[in-house]
Amino acid sequence: MDRIRVRGGRRLEGEIEISGAKNATLPLMIASLLSAERLTLENVPHLADVTLLARILRNHGVDIAMEGKRSGAPPHPGETYHLEAREIVDTTAPYDLVAKMRASFWVLGPLLARCHEARVSMPGGCAIGTRPVDLYLMGLSELGAEIDVEGGYVVARAPGGLRGGRIIFPKVSVGATICVMMAASLARGETVIENAAREPEVGDVARCLQAMGARIDGIDTGTLTIAGVSSLGAARHAVLPDRIETGTYAMAVAATGGDVLLKGARAELLEAALDVLERAGVAIKPEDGAIRVRRNDVPLQPVDVETRPFPGFPTDLQAQLMALMTRAAGTSTIRETIFENRFMHVQELVRLGANITLQGDLATVRGVAQLKGAPVMATDLRASVSLVIAGLAAEGETIINRVYHLDRGFENLERKLGNCGAVIERLSS
Ligand code: UD1
Repeated sequence: MDRIRVRGGRRLEGEIEISGAKNATLPLMIASLLSAERLTLENVPHLADVTLLARILRNHGVDIAMEGKRSGAPPHPGETYHLEAREIVDTTAPYDLVAKMRASFWVLGPLLARCHEARVSMPGGCAIGTRPVDLYLMGLSELGAEIDVEGGYVVARAPGGLRGGRIIFPKVSVGATICVMMAASLARGETVIENAAREPEVGDVARCLQAMGARIDGIDTGTLTIAGVSSLGAARHAVLPDRIETGTYAMAVAATGGDVLLKGARAELLEAALDVLERAGVAIKPEDGAIRVRRNDVPLQPVDVETRPFPGFPTDLQAQLMALMTRAAGTSTIRETIFENRFMHVQELVRLGANITLQGDLATVRGVAQLKGAPVMATDLRASVSLVIAGLAAEGETIINRVYHLDRGFENLERKLGNCGAVIERLSS
């Protein structure tokens, strides 16, 4: 298994190109199941999760072609994918594929809407809490689906097709909102989704569906109104920039000190995180199509933060913020309100010399003068990258094991950081 070696203590200086958002790319690819015509996606990041989802979609009959690259073109500056689901050949999403990536469960909505039946394995994905699927099932039942759980599979049927309905989600869920919105776009009549997730990736998917011919109102708000249509057509859509990748590199610069231009980043996608960084003493300057992040020798100030659905501070940046706060001049508190058990990085950060105590959903981080490199291991995507950030700021060498987690969600991480002066390399085994 590959590992990453980081030698800490270097400031980051230079430019980092922000990739297309993983969390938008995955549902956008899934949206191709809704139409018999071609969906072209631009700015698709080169990630293990994207490759895996392509496999899953091919299984259902989606024809996927990647536009060829000219020789000499830089590696993976955003690929163009053409996806065409002329005919759905299989409405089952099997365990061995879905168990590897939770988002593949979202095929349930489009398959059900288009084929009136679907059989999808209960999901796997990052080990961050129980992550149930009750909200998906509730939403799709409201659209008239009959749902059973049999042998670890969700079996959904809508013999006469889905119909519009009114769904009031008791809890904000990105996945359930996307899944039900996709299904409703091909249902008969109008659907209203209340307490919908407002994450920018949900809006990106909604805009792509609109380009395919869906009729959706209230995009980027908590109430989505969808007038179902009988079929969707072809479209071309560019994936929005990855706000989690943006925030991650911003925190890396904050941790090491330095001055980096995050090219292609959009500040309005992560205001809450940028505000937290400013409170911590980091200079943030949105520029034309980019964000400049700078920290000189000013010490980091501690912060008190709670994760929240968008527009609040994202849970996907919680681990990275914690890595940053390990070196603040004082005590920070970080409360995780979205996922239970999303603190697996804590023990590993402690191995690097951090002083963190946990009490339920609250982490108290007492800043230390220096972290010291060590071998560490992570069990999920965002936790792994928090260890990279801590390693960059630590004295000496840090070896991060189980790099496959990083490859699921961060495109060219070593190259992007290495170009800014970090000493980071992959050790293949
Ligand atoms: C998505 C993101 C993930 C991010 C999360 C929250 C993708 C591929 N993944 O995950 O990176 O951390 O949003 O911003 O986009 N819940 C239920 N019942 C359900 C569904 C969810 O109780 O049926 C709960 C979850 O356990 C969690 C909360 O709702 O406590 C939010 O989860 P959700 O927004 O659904 O996360 P995902 O869509 O899986």
